[in-house]
Amino acid sequence: MQSHGVRPPILLRFILDFNNSWVSNIAVFPIEAEAEAESRYCYNAQQIEGMSMTCAAITGWAKCLPPAVLSNQDLATFLDTDDQWIQSRTGMVERRISHVPVSELGYVAAARALAAAGKTPGDVELIVFGSTTPDQLCPNVASRVQQLLGAGNAASMDVNTACTSAMYAFSTATAMIKTGVVKSALVIGAEVISPIMDWENRNVAVLFGDGAAAFYLEAGDGEEGLLGEELGCYGEVRDILSVHGWGMKYALQGMQLGNSNWEFEGQEIFKRAVTGMVKASADVLQKSGMGIADIDLVVPHQANLRIIEAVAKRSSVPADKMFVNIHRYGNMSAATAPVALVEAVEEGRVKPHNHVLMPAFGGGLSWCAHLFKWGERVEPLGQTDIDLPPCDKTALELVQGIIKSKAPRTLIDGIPI
Ligand code: ACO
Repeated sequence: MQSHGVRPPILLRFILDFNNSWVSNIAVFPIEAEAEAESRYCYNAQQIEGMSMTCAAITGWAKCLPPAVLSNQDLATFLDTDDQWIQSRTGMVERRISHVPVSELGYVAAARALAAAGKTPGDVELIVFGSTTPDQLCPNVASRVQQLLGAGNAASMDVNTACTSAMYAFSTATAMIKTGVVKSALVIGAEVISPIMDWENRNVAVLFGDGAAAFYLEAGDGEEGLLGEELGCYGEVRDILSVHGWGMKYALQGMQLGNSNWEFEGQEIFKRAVTGMVKASADVLQKSGMGIADIDLVVPHQANLRIIEAVAKRSSVPADKMFVNIHRYGNMSAATAPVALVEAVEEGRVKPHNHVLMPAFGGGLSWCAHLFKWGERVEPLGQTDIDLPPCDKTALELVQGIIKSKAPRTLIDGIPI
C-alpha cells in the first residue's frame, strides 16, 4: 500500500482564495509545497505554540434520536402504502419524529460528544452545524447551540448542503483546525424534517425521519481524523430534488412556511446518487494512494438500501464491510451519515486505527466521499445527564398534529404549495 497522502481539500483552497484576510493568521499551504504534499499523509504541519498540528482527531462522538417512533404501519394509516412496499423498495422499517426543534437535538448530541471527549463547553473554539432545517435562518442554529451549551469561546456557523451537510461541516472544521484557525471544533449533523414534509405525498413521506449526531475534533500531531475528501455537485440537475415553499423565494406570497410541495424524481436521484458516491469514493481513494481493500468499513449515506447495495457492488465492497442502519431511522438527511458513524463505533464495527470511507449525496445534488482514520480510543471518556425533554405524544400523533396545522394549499407560479 502506498502512503495515504492527500492534497488540501478544494474547500480549503477556496477559503484561502476567498478571504485573504485569513492568510496572515494561518500558515498557508505554500504553492511550492504542493508537489511534495501529493505524497504526504496530511497537510504540512503548522507550528502553533510549539505544537505540530497535522490532523483534526475525532475524540468525542454521540447521537441524539427523538424517542417517538413512526412505523411503516403507522404511515399506512393515512397514506396509500404498506410495510411490504416500503421495506422492499427502501429497506426502511421505522423512523423518528421529533417533538423539539433541530437546535435541541443538536445541542444534546453536542453535549454528549463533549462528555465523550472529556471536554467542557469552554474548550470549544468552533461549532459547525450541518442542517437544511434550521430553527431560524437568522440567527443561525450554531449560535443557538453555543448559547445552550454555554460555549462562549466558539465561533458558530451553519452549513447547508442538504443530506451531505454534516460531511461538508466535517471538511470545514477539519480545514480550519489544520490551518491553525482554531484548535477544536464541534461538528453537528441534525435534521427535523417532519414539519416541512408533504405528508400527503407517499413518494417522499415514507422516506425521511428526524435525528442528530455530533463529533468533537481536536488538533493533534498524529495521522488520524479526516485524511481527505472529494466534494462535488450536479448543479445542472438540482431541480430533480426541489422543495417548493421552503425558502426566501416564497416570502411575501401569502403562504404558510411548512406547506411544501416536494419535486422529487426518485429514479433520477437514485441514479445520480449511485454515480456520485461511486465516483467520489474512487477519487478520494485514488488521491490517497489507497484501494478499497485498505478500507475497514464503509459508512454510506442511508437514503435507500438499494442505493447502498448498488454503491457496494460498483465499488467492489463486500457486504460485511458496509454499515447499514437505514431500517431503524430512514433517511435523516444531514443526520444520517453522522448517526451511522456513531452507531458503527458504538457497535464495535470501527476498531482502533481503522480506515473508514463515507460516501454521501444530497439535494443540490451534492455528493462527496470522506476518508477517515480512527484514533486509538473507541470508548467514550464520559457521559452527561443532558437529555431531551420528555415527549408525551406518539409519533403518529405528532404527524397528525403537523398535518392538521398545515394551511389549505395555494398556487405559486402554478405550483400547488
Ligand atoms: N407506497 C406504495 N407505492 C408507492 C410508494 C409508497 N410509499 N411510493 C411510490 N409508489 C409507487 C409509485 O406510485 C409507482 O406506482 P406506479 O407504477 O403505479 O406508477 C411505483 O410505486 C414505483 O415507483 P418508482 O418511483 O418507480 O419506485 P422506485 O423503485 O424508483 O422507488 C424511491 C422509489 C424509493 C423514491 C427510489 O427511487 C429512491 O430511493 N430514490 C432516491 C431517493 C433519495 O435518495 N432521496 C434522498 C433525498 S436527499 C436530500 O437531500 C433530501
